[in-house]
Amino acid sequence: MCGITGIVTRDSDSIGELLVRCSSKLTYRGYDSVGVAAVRNGKVDLRKDVGTVEEVNKLLRLSTMKGDRGIAQLRWATYGAPTKVNAQPHFGCDDVFYGAHNGNIHNYVEYKKELIETGHIIRSENDGELCVHAVDKYYEETGDMFESVRLSIQDLKGAFAYAVGRADEQEIYAVKMGSSLVAGVAEGATIVSSDLPSVLPLTNNVIYLADGEMLVLTPDDVKVYRIEDGKQLERVPQISNVDAHAAEKGGYPHFMLKEINEQPHIAQDVVGNLDGPRIEEWLKLIEDASKHYLVACGSSYNASIVGTYYFNRLAGLPMLHAIGGQFQPQYGMTMDEDSLSILVSQSGETKDILNVLNLIKGDNYGKTLGVLNVIGSTLMFQADSYIPMACGYEVSVPATKTYYSQSIIFAYLAAKLGERNGHIDPSEAKSFINRLRNDLPALTQTTIDRTGILAKNLARTMIDVKDLYCLGYGFTDGVAKEGALKIKEICYNHCEGMYSSEFKHGPLSIVTKNYPVIFITTTEDSWMVINHINEVKARHGRTIVVGEFEETLEPYVDSKHDYLEVPTSDVLINPILDVIPLQLLSYYLSVDLGINPDLPRNLSKTLTVD
Ligand code: F6R
Repeated sequence: MCGITGIVTRDSDSIGELLVRCSSKLTYRGYDSVGVAAVRNGKVDLRKDVGTVEEVNKLLRLSTMKGDRGIAQLRWATYGAPTKVNAQPHFGCDDVFYGAHNGNIHNYVEYKKELIETGHIIRSENDGELCVHAVDKYYEETGDMFESVRLSIQDLKGAFAYAVGRADEQEIYAVKMGSSLVAGVAEGATIVSSDLPSVLPLTNNVIYLADGEMLVLTPDDVKVYRIEDGKQLERVPQISNVDAHAAEKGGYPHFMLKEINEQPHIAQDVVGNLDGPRIEEWLKLIEDASKHYLVACGSSYNASIVGTYYFNRLAGLPMLHAIGGQFQPQYGMTMDEDSLSILVSQSGETKDILNVLNLIKGDNYGKTLGVLNVIGSTLMFQADSYIPMACGYEVSVPATKTYYSQSIIFAYLAAKLGERNGHIDPSEAKSFINRLRNDLPALTQTTIDRTGILAKNLARTMIDVKDLYCLGYGFTDGVAKEGALKIKEICYNHCEGMYSSEFKHGPLSIVTKNYPVIFITTTEDSWMVINHINEVKARHGRTIVVGEFEETLEPYVDSKHDYLEVPTSDVLINPILDVIPLQLLSYYLSVDLGINPDLPRNLSKTLTVD
């Protein structure tokens, strides 16, 4: 949530253009409001308003702003409504200090009161403003910017990162205290940002940071210090090989459609990565533990549900799944030093997941294995080991390709574990992994080609639907929940995902003539799912089916596009493919409803708040 970008450059003509170009790559983190503070000849020009980067840039001509340093912020509202005054960056008491933050200041209420009592003028209801005032406050005492930034941290409680500067000083300062922050060093310019995509347009010479560190940026270098004692730390920039164009649409109308279409290639990369030498380390972590937990949020959680079915079926391994925020109250008392928690997070920055990580580390609750997409994320640095999702940047707010990658990772790990512990025949394990390696890319492509048109046509018939269910059974339990999440998230419809045998225990009463219920099934379970379909049909509901073609299922759909038919494979591959038609359906429905699926209202891709 929220993205900050700070740049210091020798080229005083282009700060606005640079900040807009780089910070626009963070749109997925927040798009409620945008602001830029640029410093020229010792004066801060601060422009901000409600809207996306494109909208606010058009309105306030941000990219024409001049100066040799500046800070931009894209906001996802938490403290204070998305209004102009709450937009970031903020000034301090006067227009000398300027700065912006990402994250939450938990002692906002008390600290704001304290600042006001000591004469500070606070204009907004946004906690980011307090970061600037904290620096301002210590500057009054010390007259030294470095010390003021360092000392400000003792007043601010929470998980955050911020960038700050003074009109009459050439440097920009930044701190990392629980929210992500990365820096870059280019020729004659340096940058600090909440995330790598906004650094890459300027440079791939990157410095990763740890919590409790602060930076000082000049046009020629970035110096890193430990906040606690102000000691300078040695940090050599590393060359990032992340593709800078990953954050471009590549001819697709939306990132979401591009990312859905990347899935056939991702299958190869994910399996190729799992085929590598680190697999031994990951399997051993799982094998050495006596209790196993899969912890995640949102789409990553839905993929984890699918994962538990793979671990059960292929490895005979009970894996408890938990939502990040629910983990401690649900399972906290059951953990010990022999436990393994697999923390699944695309961003590697989700606060609910980092809370679990901290709990486990603080209480010696065993080992942690991250499954993450963002290289350089907090989860990557702090988990005992991590498996990369190998998807490239996922820009669109709704998760698609990372969910797909997670399902493959769980399927692969489960087969390997089952092969080693004898739960399944080694030839069965090998054959399944070979199918993931050799057949899945083409099957995924066929699924996209075949169900794309059907999903588009189906979406047109659902334009007035406001309420529906998405039901799965067995392996497709998590798939149904993921399909429902996508429809809620980008179509703003109420869609509940649940286990299909549960539907008759209450929700069935909602069904009237043409009430839509989507059933997702594997070939193994369709005999059972047909019972659940009949229960809906008998009440004149509309049944939509996702799965392989089966003659027994065909009579239950009223038209061709109500059967989102995936290519023939097998029960273990079905759950990986079945999500794709649901991604496509939600995508086309969203577009038909006039919504931008990449930037659904009220959301942010990276949720670094509680
Ligand atoms: C939904 C979606 C979210 C995320 C959730 C967890 O499409 O993207 O539900 O899955 O916020 O995010 P990560 O995986 O980054 O921890």
